[in-house]
Amino acid sequence: MKKFLAAIIFVAMMMSACGSSEEVPKDVSKSFFADSVALNSGYNMPRLGFGTWTLDDDTAEDCVYFALKVGYRLIDTARYYRNEAGVGKGIRRAIADGIATREEIFVTTKIMPGNYNSPDAAIENSLKTLGLDYVDLMLIHQPGHNDEEVYRAMERAVKAGKIRSIGISNYYTPRDFDRIKNIATIAPAVIQNENHPYYQNEELQSYVKKFGTVIESWYPLGGRGNTQKIFSNETIQSLAKKYSKSPAQIILRWQFQAGYVAIPGSSNKKHIAENFNIFDFRLTAEEMELMRGLNKNRRFENW
Ligand SMILES: NC(=O)c1ccc[n+]([C@@H]2O[C@H](COP(=O)([O-])OP(=O)(O)OC[C@H]3O[C@@H](n4cnc5c(N)ncnc54)[C@H](OP(=O)(O)O)[C@@H]3O)[C@@H](O)[C@H]2O)c1
Repeated sequence: MKKFLAAIIFVAMMMSACGSSEEVPKDVSKSFFADSVALNSGYNMPRLGFGTWTLDDDTAEDCVYFALKVGYRLIDTARYYRNEAGVGKGIRRAIADGIATREEIFVTTKIMPGNYNSPDAAIENSLKTLGLDYVDLMLIHQPGHNDEEVYRAMERAVKAGKIRSIGISNYYTPRDFDRIKNIATIAPAVIQNENHPYYQNEELQSYVKKFGTVIESWYPLGGRGNTQKIFSNETIQSLAKKYSKSPAQIILRWQFQAGYVAIPGSSNKKHIAENFNIFDFRLTAEEMELMRGLNKNRRFENW
């Protein structure tokens, strides 16, 4: 019985940790400052980050710590993911170990619909759970009742120094964007949307550019359960072969060159390191056109 219990505890520990014990590969670029975009808020945002959806607190802590060690400086979480505590621990541990300073790390979280009637408290709760004095970017997680008041609460928090930049998520049309922008005194710095080769936010990207708003891609690789549908695409496969890169790296390089901020998620250290290793090759203009041609206007989610 004791052996059985020990085996269960061991399996549970393995499942909660950021998978595999690999060390940081030496060939991974750490020049994140060169790879950032200037937001309309005056702050810089790294253009490649680490996403934490589906990671529990323990896994999030380990994976965030590892991602920062690899060189990522943008970490994405949300109240809805129930892992702000783990994400905050990973960030604070990396700072304590001298991997990066707080100023160098760009932390994003989101206010979830269940809290749209008490946004000021939601902001305080996220800061408290993360264990941070401020976040770099706070987003409205999705459109919903009272979202305009949520935006106003985020603006107040900017003035109070609790949030540096603010934005919206899952607003897909110029009309959706305008509804928030028209009541805003601070234009959204970022729109975080589903965005991958089969669903490209190109039109929205060109519309919001004039306001200095940047598109950030969630599901940059298609998301859990969908990645193989995109990885097996012939164009992506042939580019992967040409550059001796993985399909994930080709997609992330396309995201980067197309002007999107991408935040691939993973609980596998090999993948986390691989996804950051995209700064030693460049797709040609013709190849970017081929990638653009893959758009099917196909979303995998409908929220
Ligand atoms: N605002 C929103 O509504 C919203 C919605 C969804 C997500 N997000 C944010 O966006 C982030 C990214 O989305 P996501 O994580 O759901 O989807 P994703 O990054 O497109 O895909 C994650 C999937 O890809 C796999 N993967 C990652 N790197 C890989 C590689 N190099 N080779 C092979 N497989 C690889 C992961 O598996 P392994 O774990 O095995 O690597 C996982 O199954 C989230 O983590 C979250 O922070 C926001």
